[in-house]
Amino acid sequence: MPDAGRTLPRNDPRQYDDLAGEWWRPDGAFAMLHWLAEARAALVPPASRPDALLVDLGCGAGLLAPHLAGKGYRHVGVDLTRSALAQAAAHGVAAVNGDATAVPLADGCADVVAAGELLEHVPDWRRAVAEACRLLRPGGLLVLDTLNDTALSRLLAVRIAERLPTVPKGIHDPRLFVDARALVAECARHGVGLRLRGIRPGVPGLLGWLARRMRGADRPEATVAGPAPRIVPTWSTAVLYQGRGTRSG
Ligand SMILES: C[S@@+](CC[C@H](N)C(=O)[O-])C[C@H]1O[C@@H](n2cnc3c(N)ncnc32)[C@H](O)[C@@H]1O
Repeated sequence: MPDAGRTLPRNDPRQYDDLAGEWWRPDGAFAMLHWLAEARAALVPPASRPDALLVDLGCGAGLLAPHLAGKGYRHVGVDLTRSALAQAAAHGVAAVNGDATAVPLADGCADVVAAGELLEHVPDWRRAVAEACRLLRPGGLLVLDTLNDTALSRLLAVRIAERLPTVPKGIHDPRLFVDARALVAECARHGVGLRLRGIRPGVPGLLGWLARRMRGADRPEATVAGPAPRIVPTWSTAVLYQGRGTRSG
């Protein structure tokens, strides 16, 4: 796996340029983002009206797009990283180069706002949450997933995961992880009642994938044959969690 984090500071967005060739490799450095995108899209119902808009904050290369196919949304993606946005556009996402803390879109424009694996990368995540809620029309849906600000999360998502081929080294700065209770409170302040649930990769699928991935380590360009791990609910939000909530009003 390319190791952008060895030369750049943790969470430096330029890592996504160095890793640009990895986005759409199902077994590449961003493999877990594919599994998470599928699980996030499962929280999004079919559009309830024509021209419904889904704003995907921190969309990266648009990995959510295939999982939204047929649900009836216009998919607009906002991201800082131009190299990722170019790939998102090639997958049908209307790409907007911008910061999730100051989104150049109108209040109440979105039926759905998605923020997948974004908040733990944003130094002022509260500002990004305020923007997500501002973009939602009354009755609109916020879906997100992120990493909790706990010792267990820092151990599993940084120290252990960065030794495995599931997470690029240096991609996370654990100081930015998002306290789940503070996130719920912040959403409530902006009119969104967020409900959380813990998620994790299913263990048999993950072990099988890791074993196949290790066997193919000498051929990193090869695709790992076999099913991708599924993201499943778990009882604890202490590490990885999803949030889903509707804007009041
Ligand atoms: C871990 S990736 C997740 C990408 C995508 N949501 C997915 O799940 O495949 C984080 C993305 O957030 C983007 N990003 C980080 N900080 C951002 C900010 N302040 N505003 C917009 N995008 C940001 C990065 O460029 C990167 O594409």
